[in-house]
Amino acid sequence: MLICRTINEIREFVRQVRERGRTIGLVPTMGYFHEGHLSLMREAKKACAAAVVSIFVNPLQFGPQEDFHQYPRDFERDRKMAEETGVDAIFYPSVEEMYPAGFSTHVEVGGLTECLCGLSRPGHFRGVATVVAKLLNIVLPDKAFFGWKDAQQALVIRRMVRDLNMPVEIVTVPVVREPDGLAMSSRNVYLDPRERTAARVLFRSLQIAERAAAGGERDVARLQKAVRQEIASEPLVQIEYVEIRALPGLEPISRLQGPALLALAVRIGKTRLIDNTVLNPEGDQLAFDHV
Ligand code: PAF
Repeated sequence: MLICRTINEIREFVRQVRERGRTIGLVPTMGYFHEGHLSLMREAKKACAAAVVSIFVNPLQFGPQEDFHQYPRDFERDRKMAEETGVDAIFYPSVEEMYPAGFSTHVEVGGLTECLCGLSRPGHFRGVATVVAKLLNIVLPDKAFFGWKDAQQALVIRRMVRDLNMPVEIVTVPVVREPDGLAMSSRNVYLDPRERTAARVLFRSLQIAERAAAGGERDVARLQKAVRQEIASEPLVQIEYVEIRALPGLEPISRLQGPALLALAVRIGKTRLIDNTVLNPEGDQLAFDHV
């Protein structure tokens, strides 16, 4: 497995893969891998001849009061885990390599970013879209893989790729959960044991809405209320938002008709966590091809 710290090095690797007529899958990450990341890498290896993983904690997508400096990092651990999944190359650039002095171009995706996490994290999606556009331009993959845990991010990237005619297929991969239902996240390491136990309420609350929707409940306000009530039973958990919006455009809705995203963000102590599920009254399958 090759480790490339510069744009020239990863471009040379890409050139050699292309020379042999082989396809490339890109998995953009911020490192500190868990099973969710590994599932993206396995999908990339399955779908493409060569898989590239990028590890870059992107300062542009963190607000001034956010955890850029505390964000967990362990390159040696990540390197071993990526190697075990059969990844062919890691792109591991420095901040200076990605944003040299004078860098001043940003990608702004409208509409979709003006709700949910876009409201509570101003500038976040601009940072994500900018870095992902750069990574796609650097690696020029056939397919790029994103976890559905960050559903709004996946939708924003799909929209950017469509609007800017970027020649890449965006593949979304289902949320990977711990045995007790907590969605895997690099930020779960911030939770102390009491907070970790309290965090189980997130998945429980999503399941309450899933069951209610499967039982015929179509009223969005009632579904949202049921989720909020369940979360409120855990005093350590503060709700930032609980919302149901239409897929794929994230428009507000009052009744479930087509596939919809039930998304939530909470704070547990100092840790911000997000989770979601797709409510699809038309069918029981989670319809990832809808998005
Ligand atoms: O999901 C992430 O880890 C990041 O937002 C991404 C897509 C790698 C961009 O920095």
